[in-house]
Amino acid sequence: MNKKILLTGDRPTGKLHLGHYVGSLKNRVKMQEEYNTFIMVADIQALTDNYDNPQKVRDNVFEVVADNLAAGIDSKNVNYFIQSQIPEIAELTIFFSNMVTVSELQRNPTVKTEIGQKGKLFKDGNVTFGFLGYPVSQTADISFLKAEIVPVGEDQLPVLEQGNRILKKFNRYYGKTFPEIKGIVGDVARLAGLDGNKMSKSLNNAIYLSDTSEEVANKIKKAKTDSENKVYYDLKKKPEISNLMEYYKIATGKSFDEIENEFKDITYYSEFKEKLTEELNNFLNNFRERRKKYEENPQLVWDILEDGRKKVREIAKKNMIEVKEKMKINY
Ligand code: TRP
Repeated sequence: MNKKILLTGDRPTGKLHLGHYVGSLKNRVKMQEEYNTFIMVADIQALTDNYDNPQKVRDNVFEVVADNLAAGIDSKNVNYFIQSQIPEIAELTIFFSNMVTVSELQRNPTVKTEIGQKGKLFKDGNVTFGFLGYPVSQTADISFLKAEIVPVGEDQLPVLEQGNRILKKFNRYYGKTFPEIKGIVGDVARLAGLDGNKMSKSLNNAIYLSDTSEEVANKIKKAKTDSENKVYYDLKKKPEISNLMEYYKIATGKSFDEIENEFKDITYYSEFKEKLTEELNNFLNNFRERRKKYEENPQLVWDILEDGRKKVREIAKKNMIEVKEKMKINY
């Protein structure tokens, strides 16, 4: 098998939403056959900023796997596994931790922004060793499998750059072992939520892949508009309508011009909103149908994860033998 390896992960801290879909899941769907694909549930990483709430992390393992399966990332093509079940990742994290300085991590834009957002958890710069080091462990997540292709949200690119600096150093000190990693960002890098801020669970502005049709209808009904009652794309002048057009585009695949043309004769935005609700629900119906099977029988998800664990551990063991040889700790 000479397909390149693709790996990506989700922190199990909540259900996945449309922003995750356009930012990363859509690419996973597209690329799953071209690459040897692995999807990791990053439970240890989720604990770095949820160490005080392990039940939340536990409960969301099922949800994120079900969301990926619902999006059409098929367990026939893809290996799903849980980070904490692969001890080699933790081992490699320790080895990689010598390849990075504390100040490099403190300067990382993703880490910096996230520490800022955590509020009281990391108050007054009192960030934990574990959180500060998550780019190191994320590099291990990717490289223990020698993965090269990494579909992620745009915000994660500085973490992957840090990863490449670690891998370069490792290869320089111990001999060429790991390939460079390449982040792949979706065509809508930053989807706005219903309030115009970045779509995010914590801001309560998201449309979830698992929302019911009533939930979608309510959210769209309440979405802010302007008073012009004309549908056209102008992010500056009409951010609310432009954003709803973006959702319409995701649901239908139509261009902004086509959408503008389709609604040129409406009198009230409610006509646009009704059609948007219908199209979003058509789009999400595929997800709902695929998800149902796993909701009715959650054991299917746990079986998929167990299959993945077995396959992944085989590769992990093999790669760690090589790593330890290179590092001269192969006693
Ligand atoms: N940090 C990623 C996120 O928040 C999740 C993640 C963990 C990940 N390990 C990974 C992504 C490895 C890609 C590769 O989205």
